[in-house]
Amino acid sequence: MNSLELRRKFIDFYISKKHKEISAALLLAENDPTLLFVNSGMFPLVPYFSGEKHPSGNRLVNSQRSFRTDDIEEVGDGRHTTFFEMMGNWSLGNYFKKEQLNWWYEFLVEVLELDPNRIYQSVFAGDDIVEKDNESIDILKEIFKKYDITAEVGPGTRGDGNKGPNVDIDFNKYRIFPYIDKNWWKRGDAVGELGGPDSETFYDTGRIHDPKYGKYCHVNCDCGRFIEIGNSVFMQYKKTVQGWEELSQKNVDFGGGLERMVMASNNLSNVFKTDLFSDYIEYIEKKSNKKYEDFSSSFEIISDHVRASVFLIADGGIPSNKDQGYFVRRLIRRALVHLRKLDVEFSAFLDLSKLVIKKMSPVYTSLRKNEETIAENISDEVDKFSNTIEKGVKYFKKVAHVNNIISGEDVFNLFTTYGFPLEITEEMAKENNYKIDKEDFYKRINEHKSISRKGSEQKFKSGLANMSEVTIKLHTATHLLHEALRRVLGTYVEQKGSNITHERLRFDFFCPRKMTQEEIN
Ligand code: ALA
Repeated sequence: MNSLELRRKFIDFYISKKHKEISAALLLAENDPTLLFVNSGMFPLVPYFSGEKHPSGNRLVNSQRSFRTDDIEEVGDGRHTTFFEMMGNWSLGNYFKKEQLNWWYEFLVEVLELDPNRIYQSVFAGDDIVEKDNESIDILKEIFKKYDITAEVGPGTRGDGNKGPNVDIDFNKYRIFPYIDKNWWKRGDAVGELGGPDSETFYDTGRIHDPKYGKYCHVNCDCGRFIEIGNSVFMQYKKTVQGWEELSQKNVDFGGGLERMVMASNNLSNVFKTDLFSDYIEYIEKKSNKKYEDFSSSFEIISDHVRASVFLIADGGIPSNKDQGYFVRRLIRRALVHLRKLDVEFSAFLDLSKLVIKKMSPVYTSLRKNEETIAENISDEVDKFSNTIEKGVKYFKKVAHVNNIISGEDVFNLFTTYGFPLEITEEMAKENNYKIDKEDFYKRINEHKSISRKGSEQKFKSGLANMSEVTIKLHTATHLLHEALRRVLGTYVEQKGSNITHERLRFDFFCPRKMTQEEIN
């Protein structure tokens, strides 16, 4: 089953269970000071878990494009990506554990036709506040029984979930594993965040355990034998200053990565071997005259980062030195460094971005609409980096020889003069067995920031001059203006500043091209 079919089948399956398909949010988080990017399907649904009525009802389904900055370093292991599509279904105070787990397994076994013998599950092991999830355990045992499998509860992990129970596990006998720190899902750590116990589903790729990751394998082991393909969160609590308090309703928040589901349904153990990535891998093989297998990490970084950049730009992320734009810059530049490693010219990145648009636009029509903006921003960023990279690499080589340590000053120079994001310097240093003085770098960057901040404070005072009725009105008007600009010019329009006095408002924004007279009108 290819990605196009699978995406549709997931949504149709839940529609057949009386869910409504809802539209997805843009990748750049709006109205949320705590997160820069939408990182899961539940993101736009937060108010509805606490009781607010959703206009589409209390059973929802969709595919939500998501971006996780935390996973940048993980890309290269065959299963992690920064950008992914999260297939999600939700119950807003409607059904709970029994329906969720039964339907999900029905989808896996009846629709995707996965072998239930290759499916494992984790559950919440219980702590001082919330008890062990015996309810899910009983439901799971019943489900496996339907497939003639006796699912027994295996050794639990109370400590570090990555380490596992540290015993030799018989995976023919045990199928359900209790963990604590891997099985409590929350979107963030702030007071007011929602969370709850969760139950993750793992697919056994059949790979041999690699002892590099610990003596014994377990479902959360990093060796890659077991890959998580879905997570059922029983969203039931809200974070308070003291701990967690129960919400007025019991919700289900399910999310599973499309890439990994396609992988499992095709009996693969690597998401980059699915149709979602094959065009890019093939293209890089052709251009570099090298095999994916020999340079898998670089191939994966390039393929992931080009997908992420295309989607981020289409949703309004413009490469820059701060906030969301910084991640777009970092992704593009990091991919370029890896193209260089494979001896492929930088223009390949633009070609790859076109392949992404070609592959994904049947589902994401906004990619075609923003085709020009995507190409302009990518070309622009590629040009900027091309102009400095050779000088930067030379500089890097020159300074790296002193005691095998690159000083904070040099990292800072690489950053400000040659446009090397810290992570790129770090990565290059690691490859060459050099260390970098990060602490000193941070000190310098903070000094640099506060000097430029002082400068801009002197130029103009931003924000509201006072809180009079007139200025509040003008402030509201800037929000309307911002939205109008995004509708007329495109979602990449981004506020760069605003200054309001009682006489007028000023609004600075970024637009990569000249506006037409009609647009101005
Ligand atoms: N929100 C849950 C997750 O991201 C489903 O794993």
